[in-house]
Amino acid sequence: MNKDHFIIEGLGGKKTLLGEIKVNGAKNAVLPLMTASIVFDEKGISLSNVPDIEDTHRMNELLEEIGVSCKLDEKGNAKIQQNGKIKSSLDGEIAKRFRASVILTGPILARTGKVIFPHPGGCVIGARPIDLFIEGFKKMGAKVSVEGKNYEIKTKGKTLKGARIFFKQQSVTATETFVIAALLAKGETVLENCAMEPEITSLCEFLISCGAKIDGLNSTTLTIKGGEILSQTDKTFEVIPDRIEAGSFLILGALCAKDLKITNCQPLHLSSVINNLRDAGTNIETGENFIHIKNAKKSFLNSFNVKTHEYPGFPTDLQAPIVVLLTQASGEGTVFETIFEGRLNFTEDLVKMGATIQMWNAHKILVKGPTPLKGKELQSPDIRAGLAFIIAGIVAEGESKIHNAYYVDRGYESIEKRLQKIGVNIKRVKQ
Ligand code: UD1
Repeated sequence: MNKDHFIIEGLGGKKTLLGEIKVNGAKNAVLPLMTASIVFDEKGISLSNVPDIEDTHRMNELLEEIGVSCKLDEKGNAKIQQNGKIKSSLDGEIAKRFRASVILTGPILARTGKVIFPHPGGCVIGARPIDLFIEGFKKMGAKVSVEGKNYEIKTKGKTLKGARIFFKQQSVTATETFVIAALLAKGETVLENCAMEPEITSLCEFLISCGAKIDGLNSTTLTIKGGEILSQTDKTFEVIPDRIEAGSFLILGALCAKDLKITNCQPLHLSSVINNLRDAGTNIETGENFIHIKNAKKSFLNSFNVKTHEYPGFPTDLQAPIVVLLTQASGEGTVFETIFEGRLNFTEDLVKMGATIQMWNAHKILVKGPTPLKGKELQSPDIRAGLAFIIAGIVAEGESKIHNAYYVDRGYESIEKRLQKIGVNIKRVKQ
């Protein structure tokens, strides 16, 4: 874990950023794709547009640990292969720090009949339980026990059994985990109240292209027919663009750009954010794979209310950047974080920068704007709030120092280099 920090010289509210910024492959799409390699034959899987981020490296290390070879090159191609001898136990230290490790439990259990893992860690944004996983595995005929600090899950027979599972809460990683696990189960699995994020649809499309039988894409009910291990055709699968990265650049553009084109993205995945920003007064043009923002010199934004929601609603992962935007918008806006408790705590630091934010409760705040922000020394609390602090630092007047660059590096590749190219005065200080 690096101890780097970022230094930003803010624009003091000026809209000067100019040029093009390309969106990379999606963190939340590549991680489940990598775990799916476990239910493939020894030819493995080939992916392109893989982002060079810390979370991809952590997943790489976890996979190597259990006997899957991962080769990532500097062009964003990955070849992931296993030789059929998968270890059933997940490395405690990495898995404890990294929430997405939980997705591995499904494929490992389906392939080996057993999985041992610690409670998965990740961003400090609420309790983040794993009850949906435990209940689902039991429904598929597995026996769950707790041995010391680890969960130990075993299938009763050789394989998991197809089952009908209703998720009491829509969950992205639980949906992905059970889609993959069901591929090797005996019989049919019906998953109800699934999440519908584009990363799930992309995973299903990839699996179907490799022989999986999955019905119900883009709906909340997915039906999976269990069968043989999968085999990828010769075609490399391209990871979809990161809608959270694109949305963050869009918010940055609405705040600070003169003329910014965000390329290699899918605007259709960002409808809720684009609509909010258009209503607020941002001039946005979209094409099939780009978003173009042109701000008039004196353009200003009107405030609005935001409620985070499962896709296609407003993504919780863009809640922190949108709060920064609301500090610069005229009027009052409430932000209702419905997915994670604890995910509004970062706003205390925006107040230190000069924002007027009232915390009504753990899920709701009121932002009054516009208020000029002043550069400050801040600690990134998590990946998404970390990027929001960078955006706040760019808007603010004076210098900001953002510690815990590692959190930002978990999800955004070489962020400082890409922002420098559009005119942001940001540098990384290596420790
Ligand atoms: C994924 C994303 C993350 C995003 C989140 C919500 C990945 C790798 N991460 O995280 O970036 O912020 O979706 O869009 O894709 N829950 C339970 N029990 C469980 C599992 C989840 O109650 O067993 C709850 C969570 O506490 C939360 C809600 O379900 O309130 C949704 O969380 P979930 O969709 O599971 O988030 P992740 O999949 O961890």
